[in-house]
Amino acid sequence: MDRREHWENVYRHKAPTALSWFQPEPAVSLALIARVAPDLGAPIIDVGGGASTLVDRLLDAGHRDVTVLDLSGAALAAAQARLGTRASQVKWVEADVLAAPLAPSSYDVWHDRAVFHFLTDPRDRAAYVAAARATVRPGGHVIVASFALDGPARCSGLEVVRYSPDSMHSQFGSAFRLLDSVRDEHHTPSGATQAFVYCLCRVDG
Ligand SMILES: C[S@@+](CC[C@H](N)C(=O)[O-])C[C@H]1O[C@@H](n2cnc3c(N)ncnc32)[C@H](O)[C@@H]1O
Repeated sequence: MDRREHWENVYRHKAPTALSWFQPEPAVSLALIARVAPDLGAPIIDVGGGASTLVDRLLDAGHRDVTVLDLSGAALAAAQARLGTRASQVKWVEADVLAAPLAPSSYDVWHDRAVFHFLTDPRDRAAYVAAARATVRPGGHVIVASFALDGPARCSGLEVVRYSPDSMHSQFGSAFRLLDSVRDEHHTPSGATQAFVYCLCRVDG
């Protein structure tokens, strides 16, 4: 089964609120985005946003330029259905982040929670970093959240790579300056706890 089929099956067969990564309130992401995007017109992309409630909360906060990209059309359809008429305020991109048609320097903020850590092949990680570097304007920010070193070794039946702030930053390289990191204990809908690490980097010009 390829990547797209895997994720389409996940979202076709389970309610978004039952998925292990579901968060009713994406508090850490919102706080980090508020720090780096006080301008509500700043373009923000949620990469692998799936059916996350982050887009709802960004619209609630008044953000006017939000894109959600995901491989799974079923995930995007679930988010759109939840948003109702507000879905038209969002740009939706159904694509693989490793080959997405994103314009150069078009975003101020690149947000990813629980997508990069699925890239177990170094060539895919290099393609991801090149995409982030090309898509975020110099001076913009990248927020990437993965399982921490003591987080789960697998998610959704797939192997993941776990990171510390330093090992995450070393994947991105010197064009990205690590400004901060936040550890978060995520409580899954079934009651398990998963350790995440969020890294906030600035893209240097
Ligand atoms: C664990 S879920 C996290 C969803 C969301 N970020 C959240 O925090 O609720 C991973 C998401 O990444 C998407 N995804 C996985 N690989 C992808 C890729 N190469 N390009 C775009 N989206 C991808 C999946 O469809 C899924 O929605």
